[in-house]
Amino acid sequence: MKEKDINREELKRLAAEGAMDWIENHYDVNRELRVGVGSGSTVAYSFSRFAKYQNIIAVPTSSQTRKELCELGVEIEQPENSGTLDFDLDGADEVDPELNLIKGGGGCHYREKIVAKQSKQLFIVVDQTKLVDYLGQSFPLPVEVSPESMEETRDLLSVYGEPRFRRTDGGLFRTDNDNVIVDVQLAERPDKEKLGKLEEEINKIDGVVENGFFVNRKADIVFVGTEQGLRIIGDENE
Ligand code: A5P
Repeated sequence: MKEKDINREELKRLAAEGAMDWIENHYDVNRELRVGVGSGSTVAYSFSRFAKYQNIIAVPTSSQTRKELCELGVEIEQPENSGTLDFDLDGADEVDPELNLIKGGGGCHYREKIVAKQSKQLFIVVDQTKLVDYLGQSFPLPVEVSPESMEETRDLLSVYGEPRFRRTDGGLFRTDNDNVIVDVQLAERPDKEKLGKLEEEINKIDGVVENGFFVNRKADIVFVGTEQGLRIIGDENE
C-alpha cells in the first residue's frame, strides 16, 4: 500500500491510544505519577488521557506541549526540579529494529533527550511509516546548533553527509532554546555497532548542542499504529 493511501492520523491515534491503554494496565494511575510528555503530532493524541489522571505531574519536552497540557489543566514541572520520572511518552521520526531512534523532526530533541534520560522507561508512539531497517534510511539527522558559528558547524557536519539549515517561511527555524537546526542527510548507512559512539562523536563538534540520535538512551517499548492494528515492540509479554 502506498503511503498516501494510509490514513496516518488514524494510525497515530491508534498508537497513542494503545500506549495509554497499556500504561493504565501496568501503572496505578491514581497514585502520584511523574511522567515526561513528549512533542509532536502522535504523542499529542495522548494528552487528553493524561488530563484525566488526578495526581499526575508532567514534565513537557517543548513549549507547545507545555501550552497544550496547561490548557487541559495538567500540573507541570521543569525537568531540573522533577528528579526521576516513572516513564516518558514521546514520538519519533525513525525506529530501527533494535529500538534506536532518530528524533527532532519538531526541533525539540535537546529537551526530549534530557527528559528521556531522567525516565525509568521510554515509551515511543509512531505510525508504521516510522519503522526503518537502519537509522537515516528515510529521515535526515536533526542537529541542534548554536547560531554564533553556525556556518562553520554546518561545514564540519558535512563529513557525515549533506547538511542543510532547516528553514521556515520566516527564515531559519529556531528551537525553544533559540538555536538553529542542521538536518544532515546521512551519506551512508551507519555501522549499527558504532551508533552509540557516533551519537557521542557528533555532540563533540564545536557548536553542536545536541543531535537527534537516541541510541545511548533508546526506546524500551514502541507502540506502532499499523493498517493491521496496534503492534507493541519490546514488551516481552506481548
Ligand atoms: C520533536 O522534535 C520530535 O522528536 C517528535 O517527537 C517527532 O518528530 C515525532 O513527531 P510526529 O509524531 O509529529 O511525527
